[in-house]
Formats: sequence, C-alpha cells, structure tokens
Amino acid sequence: MDSSQRRQTIIVLDFGSQYSRLITRRIRECHVYSELVPANATLAQLQQNEQLDIKGFILSGGPSSVYDENAPACDPAILHSGLPVLGICYGMHILAYQLGGHVAPARGRREYGPATIEVLTRAKQDTQSYRIFEGITASPAQTDPLGQTQMLSTVRLPGWMSHGDSVDELPPGFRVLARTESNPVAAIANPVGLIGLQFHPEVTHTPQGKDIIGNFLFRICNCEANWTSSKVIEEAAQQIRERVGNERVICGLSGGVDSAVTALLVHKAIGDQLTCIFVDTGLMRAGEREQVVDTFKNHMHIPLVVVDARKRFLTRLANVIDPEQKRMIVGEEFIRVFEAEAKRLEENLGPIKFLAQGTLYPDVIESTSHDTAETAKRIKTHHNVGGLPEDIAFTLVEPLRMLFKDEVREIGLALDLPEEWVWRHPFPGPGLAIRIIGAVDEQRLEILRAADKIVIEEIREADIYRELGQAFAVLTPLQSVGVMGDSRTYANVIAVRVVTSGDFMTADWARLEPDLLGCISNRLVNEIPEINRVVYDITSKPPATIEWE
Ligand code: XMP
Repeated sequence: MDSSQRRQTIIVLDFGSQYSRLITRRIRECHVYSELVPANATLAQLQQNEQLDIKGFILSGGPSSVYDENAPACDPAILHSGLPVLGICYGMHILAYQLGGHVAPARGRREYGPATIEVLTRAKQDTQSYRIFEGITASPAQTDPLGQTQMLSTVRLPGWMSHGDSVDELPPGFRVLARTESNPVAAIANPVGLIGLQFHPEVTHTPQGKDIIGNFLFRICNCEANWTSSKVIEEAAQQIRERVGNERVICGLSGGVDSAVTALLVHKAIGDQLTCIFVDTGLMRAGEREQVVDTFKNHMHIPLVVVDARKRFLTRLANVIDPEQKRMIVGEEFIRVFEAEAKRLEENLGPIKFLAQGTLYPDVIESTSHDTAETAKRIKTHHNVGGLPEDIAFTLVEPLRMLFKDEVREIGLALDLPEEWVWRHPFPGPGLAIRIIGAVDEQRLEILRAADKIVIEEIREADIYRELGQAFAVLTPLQSVGVMGDSRTYANVIAVRVVTSGDFMTADWARLEPDLLGCISNRLVNEIPEINRVVYDITSKPPATIEWE
C-alpha cells in the first residue's frame, strides 16, 4: 500500500490522563485522523498496521511521576523515529527524562488550574523550534494596563495546568519556549519536532489550545486536513464492501443514532444485501416504532422487518419489581426474538453471515485502556441490555468502531438522517421498563408514554433539547391525594428528570426555567387523568444515577 492510500494518522499514547481521549478528539476536529493507544504500544507494533501513515505522536498527561516505581515509559524507538512527538504534562516529563533531561519532583507542590503562559519572544529567533507557537497571538480580549493588545509585547496565553513535577534541565538540543509565573519551563522544543508542553492545549480552558494542536499537525507533522465526513463515509463503504462481498447482513435498529448511522453506512455500501430488524418490545416511547418505519422503510428505502414482540416482553415482565431482573429479562428476551427473526429471514432469503453493530470508539478504547466504565458497570450491571451476546453466530461488521459520537452525528447528517434523529438523547435498552418504578403493565406504560411525550414536546418547544443530556418522565409507584374541580383525586405521582451531561458518567440536574416547569406540570396533570402530582428531580449524578432504576 503506498502512502497516498494510507491514512495520515497521529497516534496518541495514553499515559492515563483524564484528557487523553480529548486529545484524540481535538485532532480529529482538525480533520486529521488520530488513534488513542496504550502507553506501552511500541513503534514496531504500530507500524504493523499498514493502513496508517503515522505522521507524529502525542504523549498524553497522566497521574504518574517519572520517578514512580512502575512509571510508564515511552518506547524509545518512538522518540528516535525521526517523527514529531508532542509530550503534554507527564508526556513532556517522560520525553525530557528519556532524552537525557532532568525532571524536578513535585515535593508536595502542585500547580493546578488556570495559569498564564508567557511565550518568550526571544525563542522566536529559532523558527524551527518555535513552530508550535507560530501565529499564536494573545487573544484580543487580553490587554495590558495601557489598553494595548499583548501582541505587541510578550504573548501571554491563558492555559490550564495540572501537574506536580516539572522539567528543570533540558535534554540536549532543546530550548525553553515559554514559562509561567511559578514554572520557568512551561514549553520546550528542539528544531526537529520534539516538543513538550507543561499545560494542556486539549482543554477549552486553554483557548488557543486548538491552534497550538493545529500547529503541531500542520506545521510540524505536515498533515493534510482530509479526515472529513465524506472521506470517512467513502472509506467505511469501501471497507464494508471488501469485508462483506456478496453475503447478507442484518442490523438491529434501536431507534438511536448509532444503529441508524450503522444501517445507513452499510446500506450505502451494499444496498439491499442489508436487512434491518426492529424489535418492538412494547417498552418504546410514543410514536417510536412508526418513526423507525417512516424513516428507514419509507424515506431511506432500506429493507426493514418489524417484529411485534410486545406481548412476549409484557408477559415476562409481569409483576417483576427488581430493576436488575427487569434488565435481565429484557436482555434475554431481546436476544431470543432477534435470533428467531434472523433464522426466519435465513429461511426466506438464504444464509446470513454478518451482523452490523453500532460499536463506537469509546467502547473500543474502554476495552484496551483504563476507564471509569468499570465503576458504572458495578452500579448497574446490564448496561448493554438491548445488545447481543459476544458469542452470537454472526461475523460482526462495525463501521463506527473508530468514531466518536460527534463524528457519528456528522456522518448521520451527511447521509441525510433527519436532524431530530441525529441529536436524539440516549435511551436505555430496557426502555420504559426501568422508568416505571415497580411492576410494568400496559396501563402504566400508556401513562408513562403520554407523560414522556409531553415532557419532550415542551422541551423541544422551549428550544433547549440539544443543550440537555437527557429529559424524561418517571412513573413512581406513589399515589397522592389531590383536588380537581370539586372532587378529591387519588392518583399517580410522576417525576420529571432532566439532566445535562457530557459523558453520562456524571450529570447535573438541569436548571429549567420555572415557567417551563410549570407548563410541563400543568399539561401532565391536565392531560393525563391518572396523574395528579408532578415532582422535579434535583439530584445530580453522583450521588444519584440518571435513570431511577
Ligand atoms: P445511569 O442511570 O447509570 O445511566 O446514570 C447512564 C446512562 O446509561 C443509560 N442506561 C442504560 N442504557 N441499558 C442501556 O442501554 C441499561 O440498562 C441502562 N441503564 C442506564 C442511561 O439512560 C444513561 O444514558
């Protein structure tokens, strides 16, 4: 494979920073492909992947000190490969240390939070080493006491610090490019493209950080900005065609963006060799089944089979109260229904070899690096309910395997997936079963569906849907006394749960306008006779979780 066919790539070595993933995302936002790999990956291993044209490396930050007993190190071959390397925080320390510099241990001192990075103007004279800061100017808002922008004198940049150790002796051939008030070595570089930054350019608290990363990509690694939606789609379609050949593929649609984009990509690649399956569990929200049929069958003309399994699910869920048991039942039943349908399709269409799944890059990373996902798994055991077991008798096609959620959304838009679908909040696999506290039956599902519809309608009407992480109603087993007209009522208490969240591992309750809350409450009570009281959930995660069960 010659280099024009290979994908220009920046490899991010993960030394354990909470921001490692963010670095990869920032690079991709600059339309350059990037992969996050464990810190101990070697140059030889990485170069085995013939599809990648590695243009440079970034060493992430991490919690260690280079002097720790088991401090992770970088494969020296990477540092001596002749390719550019940018070390951030711990990555800077390890780069300096392994190349013959010295790192001063923290001795209990830590610099954490905002800092001002002062780029040394004299460093500009060495244009090769200075490339990482080339074209970076103080933001116009930053003025000195005389009101002149700082472009005229030293460039001072707001930056985000989080470190203990710091470099106090440079490796041979390096020079200092920047300092902070408390740290004389905030950025170092040599002319051939080895760079260390003590601050974090990947976080938004470093406003010029993206430009600094851009300098690394375009001025130092000579990357081209060609990792775009159309390129991703073209490459994915090509790969799917190569993998699948003339075989048949099935894909389960869940109503979420991941499975929708998976189906669209596979359909684009192999047309009607794909059949989608939508299992109506009866635990969906109002209108969801119709929407799936309308979008996929009627608009996108993708072969779609809808399996009406509502009775099966409800029968098995009858009188079940325990949330984990509900999850288990829904999970098991889903697999049974899906496999039976696949068998039926095989009888009609012939053998089906492949199953397309919407696995995303964060799931892939989780399986190879440290992650907080472990904690989540312990709290609610069946987070992949609605998924299929690993030993399923199909070969997997996972076209989103290397993509982040925001990239999946962009691709969805490029493939004409309706906006409403692209930006849909996550919905748990067990569906409304875990939003009805206590036993699930058709009547309670009807109440919750109606309530959920009102909550979403009002949130959309207020034009805040996209700012929110999730918004939904929860049907509690409580009944309370009310008065309507002149009559006493004794009806259900419904809870409204609206959160903001980045990664759904943590979340905050959304500070909705009181008028909006009032409106939601009025509609719930007026339009649904079985509800006479509405409460708003004001707990963040932690200590609560997003779902009530
Ligand atoms: P919690 O309630 O744990 O939820 O704060 C975090 C995110 O996961 C979703 N969730 C689930 N998703 N199967 C799923 O597919 C499940 O059993 C499940 N439980 C929670 C939840 O909606 C939120 O987005």
